[in-house]
Amino acid sequence: MEKVRFTEEKATNLATLYGRALDYRSAAPILGDKAADDAVRQIDYDFAKLGINRDSAASVTLRAKPIDDWAAEYLARHPDAIVLHLGCGLDTRFQRLAPPDTVHWYDVDYPEVVELREKLYGDAPNHTNLGSSVTDFGWLDQVPSDRPALVVAEGLTMYLTAEDGTELVRRLVAKFPSGELICDVFSKLGIKAQKLNTPVRRAKATLHWGIDDPHELERYGLDLVSSLDAAHWSTPEVAARLRPVTRFQLRLLKYVPPLARMARLVRYRF
Ligand SMILES: C[S@@+](CC[C@H](N)C(=O)[O-])C[C@H]1O[C@@H](n2cnc3c(N)ncnc32)[C@H](O)[C@@H]1O
Repeated sequence: MEKVRFTEEKATNLATLYGRALDYRSAAPILGDKAADDAVRQIDYDFAKLGINRDSAASVTLRAKPIDDWAAEYLARHPDAIVLHLGCGLDTRFQRLAPPDTVHWYDVDYPEVVELREKLYGDAPNHTNLGSSVTDFGWLDQVPSDRPALVVAEGLTMYLTAEDGTELVRRLVAKFPSGELICDVFSKLGIKAQKLNTPVRRAKATLHWGIDDPHELERYGLDLVSSLDAAHWSTPEVAARLRPVTRFQLRLLKYVPPLARMARLVRYRF
């Protein structure tokens, strides 16, 4: 068993990992992420205290599924891509998407998070873990710059300051010949309401960067391709696998756009 002593934003990756494990254990999984369940079973931690249960786990899997689908689509078109999976936490997206050997995948998070990843998941020839804050930009020098890049950042942008986040975008756009950035963003209301976000509050993490209009990031060299507010993350096929209470909450969310827009999934081209 692996002991973990993550604090603040690092502890939030235990909540999302647990959400994916609970999804795997459910009768109708959305991600079917066995590696997440295996990891939870290897970690000595009281996951229940994070405030994730089988209903709130849907907020984790509903966010992850479109990101997986968009990423898979990009990799099908760019089998020579590199993937930068930023703020990867303990996510097993590499295992879920099983990219071809011609793709090189970089999982980037703080050193102590990467250290635990290495114990839990081992490695593959087309996979590299990089232990660094994404905003200590030296890590980017370890990544080749002559291939198309898919940048995926799930549950990361809101933990960055606006200054650091926009500088990161600028550097990514400048480094690669072309690529896509897939991430989620919180609105300013989402940042204000952070005390209502149970896993964030229990981890004692602080959220900073709120983006009300996803077009704002276009001034740093990105073109917005898609934007989905939280009421629109599930396809009918995925919605059919949700518990009735969650389906009902999602239906209500469609009638309250400021609440739905507190979290968006966005996809940019550069
Ligand atoms: C909510 S968790 C999401 C983890 C993972 N993407 C997932 O969906 O399970 C946020 C992650 O962002 C990481 N993070 C936050 N700020 C970071 C930074 N400046 N550099 C690297 N990682 C960071 C945390 O350590 C944590 O693993």
